Amino acid sequence: MITRKILITGGAGFIGSHLIHLFVKKYPQYHIVNLDKLTYAGNLENLKEIEGKPNYDFIKGDIQDEAFVQQLFKEHNFDAVIHLAAESHVDRSIANPHEFIFTNIVGTVNLLNAARAIWEGNMEDRLFYHVSTDEVYGSLEMEDEPFKETTAYDPRSPYSASKAGSDHLVRAYFHTFGLPIVVSNCSNNYGPYQFPEKLLPLFINNIKNSRPLPVYGKGENVRDWLYVEDHATAIDMIFHKGTLGETYNVGGNNEWQNIKLIRKLCEIMDRKLGREEGASAQLITFVKDRAGHDLRYAIDASKIRNELGWEPSIKFDEGFERTVDWYLENEEWLKRVTTGDYQKYYEQQYLNR
Ligand code: NAD
Ligand code: DAU
Repeated sequence: MITRKILITGGAGFIGSHLIHLFVKKYPQYHIVNLDKLTYAGNLENLKEIEGKPNYDFIKGDIQDEAFVQQLFKEHNFDAVIHLAAESHVDRSIANPHEFIFTNIVGTVNLLNAARAIWEGNMEDRLFYHVSTDEVYGSLEMEDEPFKETTAYDPRSPYSASKAGSDHLVRAYFHTFGLPIVVSNCSNNYGPYQFPEKLLPLFINNIKNSRPLPVYGKGENVRDWLYVEDHATAIDMIFHKGTLGETYNVGGNNEWQNIKLIRKLCEIMDRKLGREEGASAQLITFVKDRAGHDLRYAIDASKIRNELGWEPSIKFDEGFERTVDWYLENEEWLKRVTTGDYQKYYEQQYLNR
C-alpha cells in the first residue's frame, strides 16, 4: 500500500538519479514522482533500470513554470518534496548567470508556493527538503576550520549565489509561513552518471581519448570528495530523521588538492588502460584559472554524525576505483552523452517517436 507520495525534482541528473534508485527500491510503500526538465544535464538513461516499476513515475516539466508547478501539486497532492533540480555547473554560471537565477531561485520559490498552497492548514507529516551545496559558505584558506552549519554565507560565483538565495528562501518559508522544511549542504560528489563537464568524468574521458587535461590555475584548489551513494544515504537519513527547520552539512572528510587528485587519477588510468607509467600525466595542461575560483571547500559533518548517526560508508580508494571502472565499462553511456544521443531517449521511450 502506498503511504506517501514524494516529489523528487531533478531526478534525471547525477545525484537525483542515485537518490531515485535508492528510494524506489528501498521504499516500495512510497510513490516516487520524478519531475525533471531534461536540460542537457538530465539523462533518463540513468534510470532505465527502474522504469516501469509500479511506485515510480516520470514527468517532464520545468520548475520555472509557475502555473505548471501549481497545477502539478494540485493534481498529485504530494506529501513531501525532495528538491534537487538546479543548474549545477559553476563554469556555466559564469558564462550565463540568468538561467541559474530562473531555475535555482525562481524555480525553488515556485515549488515552495505550490507546497504551501496544498499543505496550508495541514502541515502534519509534510516535508520540503532542499538539497544544497557547501559552496554557499564561500572559500576557505588552507588554515581555516571546515564549514559548520553556523558558518556565515559568502557565495562567490553566480551558481553559489543562486543556491544561497534558494537556501535563504526555503528557511524564510519555515519562519514566515511555518512550512516544514529541512536543508542539507553537501561537498563535491563523485561517482557514476555524472555529466562529463565536471572534473572527474571529464578527465577520465579525456585520458581515455588522449586529450589534454585542462587544470585551472596551478591546480592548488582543494575539494572535499564524497561518493554519490553516500550522499543519497545522507539524504535518506535527513529526510526520515532530520529536525524541521534545521540544516545539515554533509561531507566526505576527504580533502584533495586538485593536482594531487588528478595525478592519482592518471596513475590509475595508466594501470587500467595498460599504458606506460606517467603516460596520462603528460596530458596535464595548466590553463587560465576559473574566474573567482574558490580556493578550498571542507565540511565539518559532526552534526549529522552526532545527531543522526550518518557517516560515509565508502572509502575513497574504493569509491575512486569503482568510479573509474564504471566510466570505462560504460563506454556506450559516455559516447551517447558526449554525442548528444542521450537526449533522444525521452522521445523514443516515452513518446514512441
Ligand atoms: P545535475 O546538473 O547533474 O542535475 C540537475 C538536474 O536538474 C538535471 O536532471 C536537470 O535536467 C534538472 N533541471 C535543471 N533545471 C530544471 C528546471 N528548470 N526544471 C526541472 N528540472 C531541471 O546536478 P547534480 O550534480 O545532480 O546536483 C543536484 C543538486 O545537488 C543540485 O541542487 C546541486 O546544487 C546539489 N549539489 C550538488 C553537488 C555535486 O557535487 N554535484 C554537491 C552538493 C550539492
Ligand atoms: O562543492 C559542491 C559543488 O561541487 C556542487 O555544488 C557543484 O554542483 C559541483 O559542480 C561541484 O563544484 P566544483 O566547481 O567544485 O566542481 P567541478 O567539477 O566543476 O570542479 C572541481 C575542481 O576542479 C574545481 O576546483 C575546478 C577544477 N577544474 C574543473 C574543471 C571542470 C579544473 O581544474 N579543470 C576543469 O576542467
